[in-house]
Amino acid sequence: MIKKNILVTGSNGLLGQKIIYELVKRNNVNLIASSRGNNRLVNKSGYNYIDLDITNKKDVDKVILEIQPHAVINCAAMTNVDACENNKKACWDINVNAVEYLARACESVDAHLLHISTDFVFDGNSGPYRENDMPNPLHYYAESKLASEKIVEKIMTRWSIARTIIVYGITDNMSRSNLVLWAKSEIEKGNMINVIDDQFRSPTLAEDLSNGCIKIIDQGAYGIYHLSGPKTYSILELVYIVADFYKLDKSLINPISSDSLNQPAKRPLVTGFVIDKAKENLGYNPVDFFEGIAIMDQQIKKNEI
Ligand SMILES: NC(=O)c1ccc[n+]([C@@H]2O[C@H](COP(=O)([O-])OP(=O)(O)OC[C@H]3O[C@@H](n4cnc5c(N)ncnc54)[C@H](OP(=O)(O)O)[C@@H]3O)[C@@H](O)[C@H]2O)c1
Repeated sequence: MIKKNILVTGSNGLLGQKIIYELVKRNNVNLIASSRGNNRLVNKSGYNYIDLDITNKKDVDKVILEIQPHAVINCAAMTNVDACENNKKACWDINVNAVEYLARACESVDAHLLHISTDFVFDGNSGPYRENDMPNPLHYYAESKLASEKIVEKIMTRWSIARTIIVYGITDNMSRSNLVLWAKSEIEKGNMINVIDDQFRSPTLAEDLSNGCIKIIDQGAYGIYHLSGPKTYSILELVYIVADFYKLDKSLINPISSDSLNQPAKRPLVTGFVIDKAKENLGYNPVDFFEGIAIMDQQIKKNEI
């Protein structure tokens, strides 16, 4: 059996880890995980790990030339929206320049590149959005992600872009929290939390996003795909659902408007995706938020990731 080489960049992140833990189960894949610094996954067997900073063009070229991957899944990014606003150079280096290095290197060895993008490419005035709706980024992170999409589309022959929305889940040694973990932990500690009531999103279970990405690679599905959860809620509704699930004190949730938050980067109000294309073409079938929290809760309880 000829094994396909698959390289995952940003494998220490939430999505990266889920993809590694799924692909490592396959015996027809030669799996290479890569991220900045040490491998933070607890399970280190069944795949190879490379310390790869994707902003280093020489290293990107060398790794891709050596591996000759069938596919590369780029999960590496600077994902903190306000940090991107405050450190534009680092944001552009990671989210745009490095994606160009990956795209050029993949093109030179005829690899399929799957790049991950965001609902934030849209302005939030007319969600839910389809793949061919017109982007209009409101902040620097969003601008950087849209610029990376355009580079991939322009340079490459075999490319896919998976856009996603508020990813929640749990995995090993996380460098970053997410909505479910943040709300649960703050309310459990008895802290009052301010929660936005005028922004609407379709939350995405990390496993669903990971499965959607793998389907894209398996099926050689090129182009743009919207991969989110199936339903749109306000952020406030999502936090109430988390509080209900864990039977937490909802009086600690303080609804506020986006304007009163004064964040460095202005967020779009109503996003959400129409996911019909992914459902029809890929067989993508994500769970709703209620089911997603229950799945995540089982993983927290079993300490299984
Ligand atoms: N999470 C969401 O709600 C969400 C929503 C929309 C779109 N997305 C997109 O989905 C993708 C995956 O996000 P995620 O949630 O898995 O984010 P994440 O948990 O923050 O993972 C990103 C990973 O990229 C790594 N990384 C950063 N700079 C790097 C570099 N120069 N070289 C190599 N690795 C680098 C980070 O390393 P460290 O851990 O060492 O910092 C981190 O492990 C990203 O493209 C993101 O923009 C995410």
